[in-house]
Amino acid sequence: MGNEGRAARPVLLVHAADASGRWQEALATALPDVEVIAAPSEAAAGTVDFFAGWNPPAGFFAPLSALRAVFALGAGVDAFLRRPDLAAHVPLLKLGDAGMAAQMLEYALLGVLAWQRHLPAYSAQQSRAEWRALPPTSRADTRVGVLGLGAIGAEVAAGLARFGYTVGGWSRSVHSIDGVRCVSGAEALHALLERSDVLVNLLPSTPRTRGLLDHALLGRLPRGACVVNASRGDQLDVDALLELLDSGHLSSAQLDVFATEPLPRHSPLWRHPKVRITPHVAAITLLEPAVAQIRDNLQCLLDGQSMSNVVDRARGY
Ligand code: GLV
Repeated sequence: MGNEGRAARPVLLVHAADASGRWQEALATALPDVEVIAAPSEAAAGTVDFFAGWNPPAGFFAPLSALRAVFALGAGVDAFLRRPDLAAHVPLLKLGDAGMAAQMLEYALLGVLAWQRHLPAYSAQQSRAEWRALPPTSRADTRVGVLGLGAIGAEVAAGLARFGYTVGGWSRSVHSIDGVRCVSGAEALHALLERSDVLVNLLPSTPRTRGLLDHALLGRLPRGACVVNASRGDQLDVDALLELLDSGHLSSAQLDVFATEPLPRHSPLWRHPKVRITPHVAAITLLEPAVAQIRDNLQCLLDGQSMSNVVDRARGY
């Protein structure tokens, strides 16, 4: 591709799920040396240097022949990696924490507190107007297993430990987090599940983790355990979860993500008394920190320096 007709300033194309124009405006303010556009028709597709956005329609990237980097407005880039229209040589960047870790910690706490303070059981009792105290459980006696110790998972595990829970964390590579027993490897995963009253899944969705939370693995959780899934729905076998909830092996589940979103109306999850559902809101992308990360990374790229949070395509995150 020649450079004829190329704009003097590099061009950043924005495609945010939120069509208010606030992302384009914020990025234009943060990047005065970059031309920020909202639709490829505003410039020849071949002049677009950078993309920032989330889940553009199929084929969107195909005409963007001069693309030099793709900035995902999210932490989980599995959908980007599955796209045939996005060339593998184009660097793909995910958001690091960007304000999501604190929200995710709140969401995990919601699940852990609900388990610790018997919320599902008390809700069931309320429906029967039944007044009956259940034995209390201390935070130290509440064991939480966190799967995935990346920028978000590590903060969640550390935050739960600071609050006094007994926390174990599992990840592909070994981590070290204050107050958290960090492990890796298949056997360690089994052992962690066997001592997790609440399992919090924050793993990235990769070929290795899709379908990971199957009947055999979930069955290792102690009787009465709760599953919190807040990363991607394709990692959890919903039929296995329902079977284990119905048999009484698991006491409850708090689910934010689903293999198909929005969760179809006919899904049995909607009406299951032991399932709490939220519509993929556990940790939403915040404009200010996300724009700051993109600005810093783009500046590094323009200055020929290395960027942070570049996705390793072979690892899948
Ligand atoms: C949301 O799901 C994200 O990956 O940021």
